[in-house]
Amino acid sequence: MPKLSTDLVPGLHLKNPLILSSGAVANARSLLHFLDLGAVTTKTVTPQPRIGYRGRRVVRLPTGLVNAIGLENPGPVKLANELKTVLPKLLEVDTKVITSLAVTTGDEFRYVANYLSDVSHAFELNISCPHVEEYLRLSEDVSALRNLLREVRDISAKPLLVKLPAITLKRYFLKLVDTVLEFCDCLVVANTVPATYVDPSTLALVLPSLDRCGGYSGPGIKPIVQRLVYLVCSEYPDVSVIATGGVMCGTDVLEYIALGARAVGICSAVLLCGITIVSEILQELVKELENRGFDDVNEIRGIALRR
Ligand SMILES: Cc1cc2nc3c(=O)[nH]c(=O)nc-3n(C[C@H](O)[C@H](O)[C@H](O)COP(=O)(O)O)c2cc1C
Repeated sequence: MPKLSTDLVPGLHLKNPLILSSGAVANARSLLHFLDLGAVTTKTVTPQPRIGYRGRRVVRLPTGLVNAIGLENPGPVKLANELKTVLPKLLEVDTKVITSLAVTTGDEFRYVANYLSDVSHAFELNISCPHVEEYLRLSEDVSALRNLLREVRDISAKPLLVKLPAITLKRYFLKLVDTVLEFCDCLVVANTVPATYVDPSTLALVLPSLDRCGGYSGPGIKPIVQRLVYLVCSEYPDVSVIATGGVMCGTDVLEYIALGARAVGICSAVLLCGITIVSEILQELVKELENRGFDDVNEIRGIALRR
């Protein structure tokens, strides 16, 4: 059996490089379906509970999904209580907990972190949800983002991950990466790709978000996210990256690690194929490593950049 364990950041050891991404499940209890994984990420939590958008929030396409959920979440108090009930089981099998949060100020971060610190191994800051303007704006205002990240860093010593938007303009994307890397330990590349959806029978826009924007995810976005992972890992070879976009099988995981990712996130695969797909992906990863003669998943990291 090849070695699968890896250090996401110093001090945060994963038993394998597979991570359940934010939004794959709606509540903390459902995280218990993913005990095989190295880590699980909660649905993004905001300082106040949100009900999300009303209407058709998820559309299934042949190549993935478009969603505009609107960051529905129960708020930090309820999430912390839910996590307390599942944490012992997750710790027992060494599955780490990453808490995803969206905030706009240091005070908001302090408030949320205060509830969630004891039940999280790391915080993931979501600055990239394409259909909720108030948080996405941070990705567009580098100086506001820098101020927020500086405050966040002062408030918490926990590993800090930042989830980037899927910006396809190279120089703009790398400028954002450069800003974020001053403060965080690991990049999540990336959130869903901004998209919309027209119903072919009514010819009407269907997504309920303000500007009809949703996030495209699943197999169709893999080449876009691979490009972004390539840009980060070739420019910053030592940076820890969680590649997230269109992973459906073990080979997809290998491809991202070959591009330099340290771990790989899975979201749409669960929504499209059900919870058992993550164990299948893990088994395929092991088989792929064995078939290709690798003893350790870490041997693969970055090989696509050298070939
Ligand atoms: C229905 C749905 C809800 C999501 N909710 C969140 C969320 O709350 N926070 C977040 O950071 N990303 C969220 N995402 C984005 C995923 O975590 C992931 O970055 C994206 O879907 C790409 O990965 P995938 O192709 O494996 O789905 C959501 C995605 C989907 C499909």
